[in-house]
Amino acid sequence: MAAAAREAPTAKTPPSVAPMSRREFLYYIWAASMALFLAETGGAILWFAVPRFKAGEFGGVFELDVTAVPAPDSDPVSYDAGRFWLVNIGQGDIDRQYSEHPQTQTDYPQTQGVKALYKICVHLGCLYKWVPTNHRFECPCHGSKYLPTGIRVDGPARRNLDVFIVQAVDANGSVLAQTEALAGNLEGSAVTLPSGTAKLRIDTGKRIVGEVNSKPGGGK
Ligand code: FES
Repeated sequence: MAAAAREAPTAKTPPSVAPMSRREFLYYIWAASMALFLAETGGAILWFAVPRFKAGEFGGVFELDVTAVPAPDSDPVSYDAGRFWLVNIGQGDIDRQYSEHPQTQTDYPQTQGVKALYKICVHLGCLYKWVPTNHRFECPCHGSKYLPTGIRVDGPARRNLDVFIVQAVDANGSVLAQTEALAGNLEGSAVTLPSGTAKLRIDTGKRIVGEVNSKPGGGK
């Protein structure tokens, strides 16, 4: 009887793996670099596109009902979260400024209306205070003094206070009037509130720098 011939088991040969060529290696490095670059670029675009300040926090927009505006010539109202003083400049403020500091009438003529004064002293950055008995702002650090209009009249500061841009808007949110720069990019105007003003928007991300003011008593 013929015995069935059995084949001896043989070890399997592992499939051969071709080594990565230099060209492939460089391609993978290039692809990884491009992916990283695109991720970074996309992140940067998102970073700049998304507003970084929320409404109601410093750097963002504050919206106030028009009833929050103080009466003309009265004491300013402090908004600590927005770092501004809201002032309503009346004819009394203007007359007092011109009679006590005549040079300012020529150098920084005023109109009635609302300003949002940045709370930081333009000398070295202290917080100045409102002093009702003197009807002006005074800085406790080195004695700079500013009128309700934001005009510096004494002390080592060498310019007027900075202001934030104020918009007067109606009930539909349309802008009726807003702060304008009076001298190039300097010296923000007071905003006269047109009839129909329902709210004020104060943008603490947009600041107009005060003009140079270095004379004793105020003036260029
Ligand atoms: S910081 Fe205000 S006077 Fe110096």
